[in-house]
Amino acid sequence: MDKKMRESTLLVHAGRNPQEQGWMVNPPIYQTSTIVFPTLKDLIYAERGYSNNDLVEPYELKYGRYGTQTNFALEKAITEIDGGYNSFVTSSGAAAINTALMAFLTQGDHMLLVDNVYSPTRGFADKFLKKLGISTTYYSPSATPEEIKKLVKKNTKVIFMESPGSLSFEIQDVAAICKMAKKLGIVTIIDNSWASGIYFKPLEHGADVVVMALTKYINGHSDVMMGSITIQEKHYRVMYEAFRYMAVTAAPFACYLAQRGLRTTKIRMDHCAKSALNLAQWLEQRPEVMKVLYPALESDPNHKLWKRDFTGAAGLFTIVLDRKYSNESLARMLDKLHYYGMGYSWGGYESLILPVDPSSVRSVTKWPYSNKTCLRINVGLEDVEDLKEDLEAGFKRLRK
Ligand SMILES: Cc1ncc(COP(=O)(O)O)c(C=O)c1O
Repeated sequence: MDKKMRESTLLVHAGRNPQEQGWMVNPPIYQTSTIVFPTLKDLIYAERGYSNNDLVEPYELKYGRYGTQTNFALEKAITEIDGGYNSFVTSSGAAAINTALMAFLTQGDHMLLVDNVYSPTRGFADKFLKKLGISTTYYSPSATPEEIKKLVKKNTKVIFMESPGSLSFEIQDVAAICKMAKKLGIVTIIDNSWASGIYFKPLEHGADVVVMALTKYINGHSDVMMGSITIQEKHYRVMYEAFRYMAVTAAPFACYLAQRGLRTTKIRMDHCAKSALNLAQWLEQRPEVMKVLYPALESDPNHKLWKRDFTGAAGLFTIVLDRKYSNESLARMLDKLHYYGMGYSWGGYESLILPVDPSSVRSVTKWPYSNKTCLRINVGLEDVEDLKEDLEAGFKRLRK
């Protein structure tokens, strides 16, 4: 695909080739378990990657568990968006993260994991990788590459980043961390779900592997669980094998929905970004709000770094309230909101609100706001004035 395409154009055309799909505008849903081969020669060719460990090319049809043309169309689109060699789409964002980790880590290895990481990633490291003899050291999201380097051991194989963290929103200097890691031969993996490949391109900043929850902005309609792994070419074999044996392929129908979502991802994200900044600035002025954690705000300590690396900000941020409110008070505020659902996800078309307590999922630095109530807000596509009015009425109930 033409590299000169701008982002909005790329999103319309990525992974889509009507000539190869019966002249249908969208890649159709190929729903199957079984692929039948017309000749023994074709069957033997398709089998080679399993029987004698030959390298299988990306996007080869073999068996439903390795994907159909519907999966491949989405994988090609994500590859173009991320700017990698190829992508694998998985049955959830967590499946993408875990598969990427399994690809590069083995018994006796060590990993450096950022302390603000999505908590199920932390759980996978602490509960499963540990059981397999793989150890993890957490590093502060504000650590410099030099500080992170001091934590590197002889057996460190992976540095896993998430920037910004999806509860506390610290930004890391991804390029500098990747540069340091590359010199030491350490693989860098980053969870880029917040920017969703639209506002930040980690592979351009030197990362080896980028994972995303397509569940969030790429699908964008809160009706699909899916993830993606995009790699640089040198990692193809190791990632292909992990994908093959972890057996985490996404269903073709889910791939169809996600590729439909990705056509509008940028306009949805741009709308959410505009509303989120407007809402965040309004919230900064509210007496009930002590702080807004959102790198798009000039007041945010990571604003400069965010501006250097990102072309926009997703509509997800956290507010720190002026004190710790009881569940009873919070319920008065939250239960009666009209436009904000209470739910664990984000990146959909609808606004969400969620009480969060990052102190329970940190081990390196103390969460500075453990004596305050924090609410994470996902700004959807509603009119921002309605979102403000709804919160304003909610704050009134909270203070009653
Ligand atoms: C930052 C981040 N990464 C990964 C995931 C996992 O995605 P999924 O829920 O599709 O497994 C989530 C889900 O909330 C997330 O917030």
